[in-house]
Amino acid sequence: MVERRLPRWSELREVIRPRRPSGDGTARRLDRAVTIGDLREIARRRVPRAVFDYADGAAGSEISLRRSREAFERVEFRPRVLRDVSRVDPATTLLGAPAALPLVFAPTGFTRLMHTEGETAVGRVAERVGVPYALSTMGTTSVEALAAVAPGARRWFQLYLWRDREASAALVERALAAGYEALVLTVDTPVAGPRLRDVRNGFTIPPALTLRTMANAAVHPRWWVDLLTTPPLEFASLRSWGGTVAELVDRVFEPAAVLADVRALRASWPGALIVKGILDAEDARAVVDAGADAVVVSNHGGRQLDRSPTPLEQLPGIVAAVGDRAEVYVDGGILDGADVVAAVAFGARACLIGRGYLYGLMAGGELGVQRAADILSREVSRTMQLLGAASVAELTPERVRLRS
Ligand SMILES: Cc1cc2nc3c(=O)[nH]c(=O)nc-3n(C[C@H](O)[C@H](O)[C@H](O)COP(=O)(O)O)c2cc1C
Repeated sequence: MVERRLPRWSELREVIRPRRPSGDGTARRLDRAVTIGDLREIARRRVPRAVFDYADGAAGSEISLRRSREAFERVEFRPRVLRDVSRVDPATTLLGAPAALPLVFAPTGFTRLMHTEGETAVGRVAERVGVPYALSTMGTTSVEALAAVAPGARRWFQLYLWRDREASAALVERALAAGYEALVLTVDTPVAGPRLRDVRNGFTIPPALTLRTMANAAVHPRWWVDLLTTPPLEFASLRSWGGTVAELVDRVFEPAAVLADVRALRASWPGALIVKGILDAEDARAVVDAGADAVVVSNHGGRQLDRSPTPLEQLPGIVAAVGDRAEVYVDGGILDGADVVAAVAFGARACLIGRGYLYGLMAGGELGVQRAADILSREVSRTMQLLGAASVAELTPERVRLRS
């Protein structure tokens, strides 16, 4: 029988520590998010359904996206012990310049749709954290405006090849003049992928209040007020548009692009050239032969060809094919710092992350993107400590395997 007594006040005071609520609702909400998954849940409640689905969704039956996530779930780490991990350094170099983490904020179109702070928020966080950010051709902030708000960020510009070559050459000129260090040429978008959630939601750009969206809009008045009381939501690099994303992509982008276009871009662009959307070792070798300094093993987050190969599974073969002639990055389905650590151990120089920071942006603007970066950064460091790797150089293929 356990003897019972009444607790003393001093003992109660020790265990009851009500947290003083912070004044700001957004900060309070974000404080409660401990994973990117938590940010996703907040995001889902904060923005209209069509907006959330545009970011969260993928092409077709979304099999590629699910497989990317499953591949990361199949990762098994091989920790080593007694290796002094009191301090770990997750910093690396990308294209010869430092990055605080092996991480890059991926190009995402129409970012101000998620939150009016849009690309500005992402650029500022990239600058603060010390990782590169690739502004999209489909961005809603111009190359000049981003350079002005995040002058110290490592800024890359993502390019799609347009049917109108003069217009895309003019964009490249502007990126160069605005101090962008690298061009990211995306090559997996000859036509738009079938984004079925967008079709079902009647999603258009700019967003329209239709009968179908009206009911959902009523639940998210704050988002609509933000939209209607800030500068108009427009593509910064494209003429204004009043249709679906798929119609836009099919009208503007060049489905006839070939390797010679990569060579031509290499000849005209003095900075680093990164080719994004590679899933095949032969293709990787060919674009490196054509002058690419880096490739991104990517299926566009599952948003283009559904059932395309899974980037993490393709990574080792492409790293072997490219050797030390170019850097190899990977993206798709990364939602945890441990995913980043695993990808680096499998041979990636860095990971790109898209939805992960967009969930933060939808959840709370710049504060939310910062929260996403903090979560990922902490997870990277803790995973390295638990794995017994004090630096990214120690993240080698022996430290990971994919369970079958
Ligand atoms: C909402 C959204 C818009 C995107 N827009 C672009 C784009 O304009 N250009 C591009 O190269 N990739 C684009 N991507 C793909 C990302 O750059 C990246 O490859 C992908 O998001 C990685 O997968 P993850 O979102 O699971 O991290 C977009 C992705 C999302 C989620």
